Amino acid sequence: MTQKADHKPVKTPQQTVENKTLVINGKSHTIAEDWYDKNLIKYLREELNLKGTKNGCHIGACGACTVLINNRPRRSCITPVRKVLGSNVLTIEGVARSDGTLHPLQQAFLDAGAVQCGYCTPGMILTAYALLLSNPNPSRDEIRKALAANICRCTGYQQIIDAVELAASWITNNK
Ligand code: FES
Ligand code: FES
Repeated sequence: MTQKADHKPVKTPQQTVENKTLVINGKSHTIAEDWYDKNLIKYLREELNLKGTKNGCHIGACGACTVLINNRPRRSCITPVRKVLGSNVLTIEGVARSDGTLHPLQQAFLDAGAVQCGYCTPGMILTAYALLLSNPNPSRDEIRKALAANICRCTGYQQIIDAVELAASWITNNK
């Protein structure tokens, strides 16, 4: 049976994606279309082998998968690649200097005993990184609030707050 012309299903035009790139830790990547509807964490871990971004809950509830998109924290487990095309992404692998020197936040987390199992650490550090960009001298309360949505099962949080405070003082004093 032939379908009448006016009953033909209307084809939805493919959404045009103008910018097909992501700049990840300073390097530009052209993203294959297969990835557009997958979550960013999958692209980072499976395509680029950037395994520092952790998958804790996969539903946007724990903060372990946090990366920075244009310097703002975002949960990569619930962020489709399509939504962030054209953005700058910072993962934990891009935080240290190119010569391998740890970022003050990374060093402070070690010095303050803020790393135990380490699963929450990349997300904590990136969230704190964004905080220090916008507020270089946060109070303990401001640090606590900024990190409130990042869950740590090990440390009891005090050492994490200590670490961010320590890093802020180093950065401010240009250590
Ligand atoms: S893994 Fe993304 S918020 Fe928990
Ligand atoms: S150090 Fe284990 S979850 Fe935070």
